[in-house]
Amino acid sequence: MTGQAIREFAPAKVNLSLNVGPLQADGYHPVDSLVVFADWGDVIFAEPAPEGLHLSVSGAHAAALESEAENLVLKAAYALRAAAGRPELSARIVLEKALPVAAGLGGGSADAAATLRALCHLWELDFGARQLAEIGSVLGSDVPACVYSRPLLMRGRGERVSPLLAWPDLHGVVVNPGVPVATGPVFAAYDKTEPQALVPGAMPIAGHGDAAVTLTAALKNDLQTPAIAMVPEIGTVLDALEGLPGCRVARMSGSGASCFGLFDDEPDARTAADEVAAQNPSWLVQPVKFASALV
Ligand code: C5P
Repeated sequence: MTGQAIREFAPAKVNLSLNVGPLQADGYHPVDSLVVFADWGDVIFAEPAPEGLHLSVSGAHAAALESEAENLVLKAAYALRAAAGRPELSARIVLEKALPVAAGLGGGSADAAATLRALCHLWELDFGARQLAEIGSVLGSDVPACVYSRPLLMRGRGERVSPLLAWPDLHGVVVNPGVPVATGPVFAAYDKTEPQALVPGAMPIAGHGDAAVTLTAALKNDLQTPAIAMVPEIGTVLDALEGLPGCRVARMSGSGASCFGLFDDEPDARTAADEVAAQNPSWLVQPVKFASALV
């Protein structure tokens, strides 16, 4: 990459809560989810190229990615070019993959959203966040939220996002047991539990961390129980998080297998991360700050 490269952070998404309604005719489920983003994620670099769209992938989890053509990064680049009506636009893109794949952290969606932001900048296109979210919505249900990458409410099948005006930074630990989980089968297992129609919740407002953690503790992830039945390691991770001193909430993110714990402050979260990592050397353990000014 040259000095002209645009750098965009692609933060990990965590669903602090996830309510899921019954399967719709379009094959998706209506959701109501409180979503935050971590100061931990992938990075997208985009720079000018003489012609075409080119992607290379590096980083810890590069090998786990699908084939290049299937990668959401290139799909995002093609979708943006099409939306701009400029098929001649070209770029060389590098994805630094730090996030685990199929982990409930929206990694592929974060990469797609960061690609949209980076190429919009590189190509000097006149799209705002709302338009990028709309372009990204066909790529994956989490992409609109990842375009904003700040605390928000996610509704519809994911395409309706409302950034939260008052939501504090929170400190936590994200733990992934290293078992990939495909989203579709977890939703299908949830369908067998005969879900009730969603009752839209109020917009959560919490001016300080303690109130936000207390509010989060009262919420739930509807996919957690069916996911644990399919992947028992998720239950083991939650037990480990719940047993840590100072852990105020322990819950699964998305369709798993990643889980998060919330703590009162950064030192507590770091101490907890060290402890859980020492006891479970095969798990990916990451202390994080869930913040609003990440991208
Ligand atoms: O949109 P995305 O490609 O991330 O979704 C993957 C799968 O997850 C879908 O094919 C669908 O089975 C399920 N899904 C769902 N309802 C949602 C989001 C995803 O049923 N709101």
